Amino acid sequence: MRKNVIAGNWKMNKTASEAREFVEAIREKIPANDKAEAIICAPFPYLPALVEATEGTEIKVSAQNMHFEDSGAFTGEVSPVMLKDIGVTHVVLGHSERRELFAETDETVNKKTRAAHAHGLTPIVCVGESLEQREANETVELVRSQVTAALKDLTAEEIAKTIIAYEPIWAIGTGKTASSEDANEVCREIRNVIKELTSEETADKVIIQYGGSVKPATIDELLSQSDVDGALVGGASLEADSFLSLVEAGI
Ligand code: G3P
Repeated sequence: MRKNVIAGNWKMNKTASEAREFVEAIREKIPANDKAEAIICAPFPYLPALVEATEGTEIKVSAQNMHFEDSGAFTGEVSPVMLKDIGVTHVVLGHSERRELFAETDETVNKKTRAAHAHGLTPIVCVGESLEQREANETVELVRSQVTAALKDLTAEEIAKTIIAYEPIWAIGTGKTASSEDANEVCREIRNVIKELTSEETADKVIIQYGGSVKPATIDELLSQSDVDGALVGGASLEADSFLSLVEAGI
């Protein structure tokens, strides 16, 4: 049975003291359990302190991006070696905001996904369509191509450990959430692609999250769906009590 992975994507928010206060507010309130995993996806400057502050808890710490090279003349970039060195366990890759604003492509997402696995980091690979693509009935075709490109040249074992986050761009930050049925239909298609690329056994292991205006009031119905295994949450993850409610819904 797959866990529910509830990840809070802070994006470019919080100060160092707010990050510390957030962890202090939640660290004792997430019980050890085999049903849900809580992940904080924080800005680079806060990662070392968050790893230290969450030691001994059920909370994992994730980066929101990384480069695919181990080191070199890449001013401003952060490598998988550095993330691993400070104890980060996950890394969000290919978020639509990075695809739209920072020239992230299917090719660089694949390079980063392979580099994450090479360094023992769990990638959370984001895919999802624009409103125009949904209205043109191109969602399934687009998401299938993004998943196939992201997983190119990965082993079945690496794919089994990859988290895919389906985030329809039109639902991100808008308050519009995909219906749980629509979300599940796309998540099922993602699982079908993975089945075609590997096997039913591997596909059944992959965690597939939904993201896009997830709130404590809407998460229960999403998690009740057959192929939704958690959520990648922006706005509703920034406040401690709200994030706790989201995690509790997964347990
Ligand atoms: O990565 C999660 C994010 O894109 C969703 O944001 O604010 O719609 O929950 P939000």
